[in-house]
Amino acid sequence: MKQSVIIKNISSLLATKAHGKVRAGKAQGEVEIIKNAYLITEDDKIKALGTMDEYKAMGVDESKATVIDATGKLVTPGLVDSHTHLVHGGSRENELSMKLHGKTYMDIMNAGGGIHATQRHTKEASFEELYEKAKKSLDIMLSYGVTTVEAKSGYGIEDFDTELKQLEVAKKLNEDHPIDLVSTFMPCHAMPDEYKNDREAFINKVINEYNPKVMEKGLAEFADIFCEDGVYTIDESIRVLEASRKTGFKLKIHADELISFGGAELSAELKCVSADHLIGASDEGIKAMAANGVIANVLPSTAFNLNTGKYARARKMIEEGCPVSISTDYNPGSCPSENIQLAMQIASIKMRMTPEEVFNAATINAAASVLRTESIGSLEVGKKADIAIFNCENIDYFVYHFGINHTYKVIKNGTIVYGA
Ligand code: NIG
Ligand code: FE
Repeated sequence: MKQSVIIKNISSLLATKAHGKVRAGKAQGEVEIIKNAYLITEDDKIKALGTMDEYKAMGVDESKATVIDATGKLVTPGLVDSHTHLVHGGSRENELSMKLHGKTYMDIMNAGGGIHATQRHTKEASFEELYEKAKKSLDIMLSYGVTTVEAKSGYGIEDFDTELKQLEVAKKLNEDHPIDLVSTFMPCHAMPDEYKNDREAFINKVINEYNPKVMEKGLAEFADIFCEDGVYTIDESIRVLEASRKTGFKLKIHADELISFGGAELSAELKCVSADHLIGASDEGIKAMAANGVIANVLPSTAFNLNTGKYARARKMIEEGCPVSISTDYNPGSCPSENIQLAMQIASIKMRMTPEEVFNAATINAAASVLRTESIGSLEVGKKADIAIFNCENIDYFVYHFGINHTYKVIKNGTIVYGA
């Protein structure tokens, strides 16, 4: 049995009663906040929470607990980063000046850079090198209040051993690091050069060889594909995703990241768990996603860094009733930043999401993006004691004071793992 943690005198406790559900439409902007609150953990779960008046009336024995005075602090569920390319080799700072000189993301990729460059770096890196690099990023994520991270493969592509290496690094980190990892298999992240003239052959390989092997080894829960002009077509995405579902994967899709391509519509047709990016998502696509319960996983830091001036239309998504989640998309190309707080702040400033919408997006809705609403994403009795404590009094201040790290302490499974 772990020592219990008592957090008391909390200025604002984000105590949204999610009941295992996403928050969409009007509810996306609704949170329950308890002022002058307490929270108690027992073992790895949340045991009780409420007002300080209730706490005093209970006569709690503090002698055997770790007591945290959260005067002036905001306490929220541990944040969930539900879209990252965590495990990869190398970095691509050489692309910065190309971008400043007018090259687009696709120009760089088509010239053999971009994802192809990271593919080479990831192939060259040993398991240990990939592990150490990803661990550093996880430490940074934890320092920003993140307690669960989704991590994709996708830098091995046709080199299946490298795909497996990425997934195995994620598996080992899930065992070793306080952050929980959720793995996604994404071999269709680019079209390998040698298959350019026989795309079908590569897709068949993914469907018939790679998918079953990854499933058999238990290395991923989700499958994802980069559905975009010049990468994978709509028809190819349908084939790959439908086959991935048959193999047993839950579905995600990189949709409408660079242009309006029909990815949002496709995610609705296939009833994907989430469609991610959506910068170019059409009105019809957004409506269809809402009608089919697809989570709109927006990646504001990527839009910022792609620097086209375009952002996913979160207001439209919320109006139409799409549950919106926010993630970093941390990767060496389109978003070399692990900072989820910044992603939340950009979502507010550039996409006009309110602090309430932003917090639901990075907690309960992000938990839904990885199918974990029963255990994480909200502070409710019986749920995992995954808790972030921030050096600010309320959620408005967290969003308003941007570009810094607000974290005071992080608790994972009832243990203080940051700021102890
Ligand atoms: O989500 N667009 C595809 N994948 C990543 C970028 C990966 C990379 O550039 O290395 C994304 O933007
Ligand atoms: Fe991505």
